[in-house]
Amino acid sequence: MAYTKWFNCVICFVATAVTFGDATIAPTIKLNNGLDIPVIGLGTWKSTGADVLQAVKDAIDAGYRHIDTAWIYQNEKEVGEAIKAKIDEGVVKREDLFIVSKLWNTFHKPEDVEPAINQSLSALGLNYLDMYLMHSPVDFKQVGDSLFPTDKDGHVIPAGIDFADTWKAMEDVYRKGLTKSIGVANFNKRQIERILEKGSVVPVTNQVECHPYFNQNKLAEFCKSKGITLTAYSPLGSDNRPMAKPDEPKLLDNPILKKVADKYKKTPAQIALRYLVQSGIIAIPKSVHKNRIQENINIFDFELTPDDMKTVDSLNSSDGRIYALEW
Ligand SMILES: NC(=O)c1ccc[n+]([C@@H]2O[C@H](COP(=O)([O-])OP(=O)(O)OC[C@H]3O[C@@H](n4cnc5c(N)ncnc54)[C@H](OP(=O)(O)O)[C@@H]3O)[C@@H](O)[C@H]2O)c1
Ligand SMILES: *[C@@H]1O[C@H](CO)[C@@H](O)[C@H](O)[C@H]1NC(C)=O
Ligand SMILES: *[C@@H]1O[C@H](CO)[C@@H](O)[C@H](O)[C@H]1NC(C)=O
Repeated sequence: MAYTKWFNCVICFVATAVTFGDATIAPTIKLNNGLDIPVIGLGTWKSTGADVLQAVKDAIDAGYRHIDTAWIYQNEKEVGEAIKAKIDEGVVKREDLFIVSKLWNTFHKPEDVEPAINQSLSALGLNYLDMYLMHSPVDFKQVGDSLFPTDKDGHVIPAGIDFADTWKAMEDVYRKGLTKSIGVANFNKRQIERILEKGSVVPVTNQVECHPYFNQNKLAEFCKSKGITLTAYSPLGSDNRPMAKPDEPKLLDNPILKKVADKYKKTPAQIALRYLVQSGIIAIPKSVHKNRIQENINIFDFELTPDDMKTVDSLNSSDGRIYALEW
């Protein structure tokens, strides 16, 4: 039974990836509202200015159709410019693309949600998003223009807003057509249950930290049982995040991952991404280098055997999590 499911899933990925020249169009997964999401998207956190402009152009040329940004990344303008350039060149049409942005924590007041999505749309130069995510269940108080308002002890200041009320305002912008789907990020099981209880739209995805060192198998199983997909952020271990410790074990240097990679003549990054996608998870690797952008989507011409999937599973550990997530 489990084997049949795995087998069908592999067939579907192998059969639906389309390649032409150096470009690979990733297969899609159906969301609970009927929309199709490409299983590989380009991450853009920490990508700014001319780098992100070029990265999004390179990604679209490489076949990416899913781009992940957020208001807090302060790069929606450049992401939008790259999208416009590729539409103007005739490489893609707007409807071929799946564009994701996120509601920042200082905009959780229900009346702030529509102005916030409009700000993202106008920076991106779009009239709708494909997916709008609540960036976190935690809200921050608005203090001037501060992105992370903190008290004198350095702790972020909450505004005391119920995220279920924020969710209802997200449902409103969804109904108005400003976004084709809505979802959440950084939610745990209990928080999702609360949305399911209080809201009337089921989130299409929960975007969370997920990679071979922290594979989220329990949360993924729970989400699946509710018709919610899991999107893996930091799927390569995010070695360039600001809080990374210089001496931490880097996922992409892991010898077991390297050994599996050698067997398939692939890179550790490709094995990590293939592992996630083959588990039914959507992944959004970030890069600003053309060769890596191509490499990260070139994962649909091989399959990990059940034994190799188990080998990658074995890298999961209780200290594999890289974010404390106290916010
Ligand atoms: N919802 C949330 O709260 C949340 C949180 C974190 C991240 N995200 C999203 O998830 C995306 C991905 O996560 P992330 O940016 O934290 O980290 P990541 O994608 O796990 O890793 C990015 C790092 O890996 C490097 N890299 C990329 N491809 C590589 C390859 N093939 N070989 C070797 N190194 C490679 C990148 O370098 P170069 O760029 O120099 O190539 C960068 O240093 C973000 O960009 C963002 O869109 C969302
Ligand atoms: C958001 O944009 C939509 C579409 O342009 C517009 O109808 C609506 O009035 C805007 N809402 C706010 C609060 O600005
Ligand atoms: C992965 O690690 C977490 C944290 O220790 C644990 O809860 C989970 O059961 C592990 N999953 C697997 C497949 O071992």
